[in-house]
Amino acid sequence: MDPAGLDSIAPAAAALYRRDLAAVAGIEKLRFFPLAVESGHGSTLVEVGGRELIDLSATWTASGLGHGHPRITAAITKAAMAPGGAGLTAVNPDAVGLAEDLLALVPGKGERRVYLGHAGSDSCDVALRAVRYNSARKKIVAFKESYHGGIGLAMATSGLHVSTGAVTPDANTVFVDYPNPFRPPANGEDALARTLGQIEAAFAVGDVGCIMVEPMLADGGMVLPPAGFLKGIEALCQRYEVLFAVDEVKVGLGRPGLLHAFQLEGVIPDIVCFGKVLGNGLPVSAAVGPAALFDKPKAAALLTTVGNPICAAVGREVLRVLVEEDLANRAARAGERLRAGFRAFNHPRIGDVRGHGLANGVELVTDRDSNTPDPDFAAAVIYRAFELGVCVYQVGGNTLEVTPPLVITDEEIDRSLEILHQAMEDAAAGKVPAEVLASYRGW
Ligand SMILES: Cc1ncc(COP(=O)(O)O)c(C=O)c1O
Repeated sequence: MDPAGLDSIAPAAAALYRRDLAAVAGIEKLRFFPLAVESGHGSTLVEVGGRELIDLSATWTASGLGHGHPRITAAITKAAMAPGGAGLTAVNPDAVGLAEDLLALVPGKGERRVYLGHAGSDSCDVALRAVRYNSARKKIVAFKESYHGGIGLAMATSGLHVSTGAVTPDANTVFVDYPNPFRPPANGEDALARTLGQIEAAFAVGDVGCIMVEPMLADGGMVLPPAGFLKGIEALCQRYEVLFAVDEVKVGLGRPGLLHAFQLEGVIPDIVCFGKVLGNGLPVSAAVGPAALFDKPKAAALLTTVGNPICAAVGREVLRVLVEEDLANRAARAGERLRAGFRAFNHPRIGDVRGHGLANGVELVTDRDSNTPDPDFAAAVIYRAFELGVCVYQVGGNTLEVTPPLVITDEEIDRSLEILHQAMEDAAAGKVPAEVLASYRGW
């Protein structure tokens, strides 16, 4: 039987959605509405059948430079005409160049190397495995409701996967609370002090090799930590000689209004993981870390096509576009407009609007007195927004993750705000039937 809602999209889009249901494995699906896309340009997604939607997700930030960016298309085409092999074993100029570019763009200490990979998942997994292999201290500190990937150690240290039961938690990982100023501890304790205390307690045992940190807790609800969070962790890492790893996969590379989110607090991590926008839709990721960790064991992180010339050329061009088009600055200004727009709704169901640049969370609640999370309302809002022409997803249950391409225009921001306001009114008025929502529960 069809999921509800297919009769309200274009017949060709519904037909494709049905074929997907019958052919593609559910294990890799995360659906909030029946979106079937045939093309895209800039911040626009074109549904099968021709309807256009404003993309406020950028495919979870992977299309960060926008769909079909002309310089990225040109880089792909040029590299694909005569690629020098497909990756492993032979050295190629763009793979080496991408590693060199990252070493130049990522502040760090000592001699470093770059792991080139395919996805945020393998960059985090390989970085954590390298630490564990090379350090006598086998423990990792990670955060509850964090997300570092869908494979291996990256998955087993992802608090979110652990809390949904999708994976057995890594036995040597200590999970601590991510400080959330909007939802402080019930006992009145300061959120940051509690977290730093938990981290210090874990470090003091002497068996922790590394802490893995998201500068904003992204899939866990676009939580903006209090000022001093990264600085506090850096200080503890220095005191207890623990490696400081930062996961910039979702909110890094221009999106936070600076090139790197960790620069918001001026810290210098030992390890930095990248993915998503680094390939602008192609599978490109990287981790930058100490040579002493990333050089051995030899041949222990082998994916045949890593560093392949086409992906590497794209990664290099993405970095050039980010810098030359000053997209971090653009993200900073666009983000202010976006957050001001949400705040201007003054809507009784918006509990919190937060973010840096174009990495934003809008938390939906039953009412502003209790601030009770309302995931059903969030599901209804994003479904209605889809019907009205905006693509945006929910994270952490009740938070809209608003992460458009960095090239979004002011006009597109204003139009998407109008649509989202309407979507909230319609969802509150019960215009999205429960049976429709039941077909698309996302996470
Ligand atoms: C912070 C963070 N790290 C790592 C990953 C994994 O990236 P990918 O799904 O591209 O493997 C994600 C994906 O959402 C993420 O948000």
